[in-house]
Amino acid sequence: MNIKSKLPDVALTIFSKMSQLAVQYKAVNMGQGYPDYNPDHRLIKCVHEAMLAGHNQYAPMIGVERLRHAIRNQIIRLYGRSYDPNDEITITSGATEALSASIIALVHPGDEVIIIEPAYDLYAPTIRLVGAIPQYAPMHRPSVNHQNYQINWEAVERLINNRTRMIILNSPHNPTGFTLQTTDLDRLEKIIEQHKLILLSDEAYEHIVFDGIEHLSLATRPALAERSVVISSFGKTFHATGWKIGYCCSPKKISAEIRKVHQFMVFSVPTPLQVGLAEYMNSYAEVHHVKHFYQKKRDRLVAGLQTTGFEPLECQGTFFLIVNYQKISDKPEQLVAEQLTKKHGVATIPVSAFYQNPAHPSSNQQLLRLCFAKQDQTIDVVADRLSNVYDL
Ligand SMILES: Cc1ncc(COP(=O)(O)O)c(C=O)c1O
Repeated sequence: MNIKSKLPDVALTIFSKMSQLAVQYKAVNMGQGYPDYNPDHRLIKCVHEAMLAGHNQYAPMIGVERLRHAIRNQIIRLYGRSYDPNDEITITSGATEALSASIIALVHPGDEVIIIEPAYDLYAPTIRLVGAIPQYAPMHRPSVNHQNYQINWEAVERLINNRTRMIILNSPHNPTGFTLQTTDLDRLEKIIEQHKLILLSDEAYEHIVFDGIEHLSLATRPALAERSVVISSFGKTFHATGWKIGYCCSPKKISAEIRKVHQFMVFSVPTPLQVGLAEYMNSYAEVHHVKHFYQKKRDRLVAGLQTTGFEPLECQGTFFLIVNYQKISDKPEQLVAEQLTKKHGVATIPVSAFYQNPAHPSSNQQLLRLCFAKQDQTIDVVADRLSNVYDL
């Protein structure tokens, strides 16, 4: 049978490819973004107890009430906005489903959606699936004037026209570790004053920010929150990526549209996870520990890299660190990532994979992304292996 593909150019993702290669060559997998340790045992116990207590049938479509209330309270505490748990907060199957359902619900065929590049790999294919067009605004790369990546707002504004429906933002940013600053939110407010756009704010790593930086959620600014879908991931916050549970918050009218899609994509999210998470958040969870936990891991990896030829770039948030290998090789990123896995037992992700055209020379800046959501001993093994890499 001849199947007409909707995404003919989409193959196995680089994340799966590098993970497969890591297994094949018994390499340490610093590629895909997940921890090699368990969530807090008290959280596991809460979920287990929820199952034993009989919370095993379908949850309400919008999510378990206690969990929506726990999220509401946390957002008031952290960002000062009160989302209505009945109409404005929806529990989703990971940040992934929240992103997909939002794009499907809010973007129409022929619309344009602005993506900040480099970008998480979900955005563009999902936009294309609904018959819309992704438009890419490249970030400013680190330079002598600033050590980190920054959003190029002139490039964003140049892309806006009367077909533009949405801008997708991601802070803390995967893969660059960039976090939105006050000046970015000011700029965004000006844009929103002039153009009636929807903002899709991927804040999956909202609690993983370093060096005293505050996460600036779009929920902190009423003018932005009015037009935003703010998305988070329990998987990232509580070291349970395999549970695939997250949520999205947006004003009632926007939420109503997202829920129409969510209802037919998954209907509802596993009940014991929701009941357990609600209990855990109400009884124990202090999310500010998460940033200290990951800052120590980032610092350990950065210190370990000092005796290697891999130079870390600045990382303000997320559990990813980008390293530059220009002292070791001038070969393209994917080739280097493969060689590093096969010859030295360390799997990473080429940063070029986060560009629309990974093979293009401008996407290849001799950079690799390492996930440091790993046990200290794993980080030490990786640093040791990388210290023996002289050419690739
Ligand atoms: C930027 C970003 N958004 C969303 C997700 C998906 O999160 P979840 O596992 O909760 O679906 C990820 C996961 O890697 C991510 O890096």
